[in-house]
Amino acid sequence: MMNLETSIAGLRLRNPTMLASGILGQTGQSLLRVAESGGAGALVTKSIGLESRTGHGNPSVIEVDNGLLNAMGLPNPGIDNFEEEIRVVKEGGDGIPIFGSIFAKGPSEFSLLAGRMAGYGVDAIELNLSCPHASGYGIETGSDPEEVSKIVEGVVNTVDIPVFAKLSPMVPNIASIAEAVEKAGGHGIVAINTMKAMKIEPEIGKPVLSNKMGGLSGPAIKPVGVRAVYEIASEVKIPIIGVGGILTGQDAIEYFMAGASAVQIGSGVHYRGIDIFKKVCAEIEEFMKANGYTQISEMRGIVHPPKPGV
Ligand SMILES: Cc1cc2nc3c(=O)[nH]c(=O)nc-3n(C[C@H](O)[C@H](O)[C@H](O)COP(=O)(O)O)c2cc1C
Repeated sequence: MMNLETSIAGLRLRNPTMLASGILGQTGQSLLRVAESGGAGALVTKSIGLESRTGHGNPSVIEVDNGLLNAMGLPNPGIDNFEEEIRVVKEGGDGIPIFGSIFAKGPSEFSLLAGRMAGYGVDAIELNLSCPHASGYGIETGSDPEEVSKIVEGVVNTVDIPVFAKLSPMVPNIASIAEAVEKAGGHGIVAINTMKAMKIEPEIGKPVLSNKMGGLSGPAIKPVGVRAVYEIASEVKIPIIGVGGILTGQDAIEYFMAGASAVQIGSGVHYRGIDIFKKVCAEIEEFMKANGYTQISEMRGIVHPPKPGV
């Protein structure tokens, strides 16, 4: 019997596809739609901060070759106004796990926000340590293993639900950041966030995004994400959620084989519609049937060389 269920850090997912942070994740109703018509196995909220923010001006999302470039600037309603959205998902979501994503300026702010999110009833915390286009809130923090360690330790000591750290690929050694997360007691890794990028309009001699630079997502970054998950899986034992450029079941399977236990989909919603989660699951099933797999875990990490002594 084929089974798409997967389990990460003690959370059971009916299938291994999750909504990535920042796409349809700002209201309880849109999150519910992704669970119900979309078929996702778990949901991640938009990254929420201490205060409400309007984000950068338009244009803030554009299409580029094989991807999207966004500089949203972390628009969000602020933690005080987010309780109601989580309540809507918890009441209507049929038990589907919801991850509360947060961004903050330092360890104590992260702990404060995580405590509030956990109090609202989310099933896990996702720490956004990696936004490439909101100054003071992103990759500066996420590329320093000591700072990452302090943030994760603080949050783990504040909440009693699993804590995931979302990492940037724009560091020389992503596995060393993941090791810092593991040593600090983090329960899982999410990799990758977008990569800092830019598009110029030659006719007007100006960058297209109002913020000039943004984060690249979609198919263009999939090989980077797969590489990052492979490197992380070589060094840590905590579960990994792969994200970056997943449009098809085959894309998700690349991430499983690199070492991921589940995947998130963001830009794919733009390319294939809200029911991309159902489509990707059907394609994963088809591949498993054709190749004699019955569980996601049988594919996990199979491209890694066997460990000595095993
Ligand atoms: C419009 C947009 C908004 C995003 N907002 C967030 C966010 O608030 N927090 C976060 O951690 N990642 C955010 N991301 C990054 C995605 O969650 C994901 O890591 C990245 O886009 C790569 O996956 P994809 O290729 O499937 O989109 C955003 C991405 C896009 C395209």
